[in-house]
Amino acid sequence: MQMLYPKLRQADILVLATPVYIPLPGEMQNLINRLCPIFEPILRWRDNRTRAKLHDDVNIRKIVLVSTSGWWEMGNFGTLVHIVEELAKDLDVEFAAVLRPHAYLMEEDSKKTREVNNALKRAGEELVKKGRIPKKLLNVISQPLVSEEEYRLSWNAAYEKLKRKEKN
Ligand SMILES: Cc1cc2nc3c(=O)[nH]c(=O)nc-3n(C[C@H](O)[C@H](O)[C@H](O)COP(=O)(O)O)c2cc1C
Repeated sequence: MQMLYPKLRQADILVLATPVYIPLPGEMQNLINRLCPIFEPILRWRDNRTRAKLHDDVNIRKIVLVSTSGWWEMGNFGTLVHIVEELAKDLDVEFAAVLRPHAYLMEEDSKKTREVNNALKRAGEELVKKGRIPKKLLNVISQPLVSEEEYRLSWNAAYEKLKRKEKN
């Protein structure tokens, strides 16, 4: 972590990339906890909440969450988005989220997965060049690849098949 603090001070955008693990992996929570030294502990009252701010020598102006989830719906990101958005609010910086649900299907090569991958590349370029990602690109990245029912039925069928194979 000591190696990261100088980089964190220089960066203008902090990208936190993590899968959803009910709600996040312990390693990512540890990293978030260890961001404390870049906060200046002067309490402020903002948006009806106690908030802090970054030390003056920290340049971060935006926090971007990049995440994947296993299940179909966007609701799986709810807790994680809340955690990282609150962090951004505490530090008085902008927040954005790049979210890819039912990410297992991204292993398949299809018109839609290619569209998502292209949008992801463009989102990275826009973030670096302009400091923001257009909403249109975020929607392409998060688009459903199949219907919820299709996903659930094929997932359950694959699991049942595996279970039968293990029994024999
Ligand atoms: C311990 C664990 C917990 C998970 N919890 C969730 C969850 O609550 N909701 C969800 O949609 N996916 C969940 N997933 C699926 C992951 O989000 C999915 O595997 C991930 O996006 C891909 O990252 P991976 O390469 O680490 O599997 C979980 C996976 C693991 C291993």
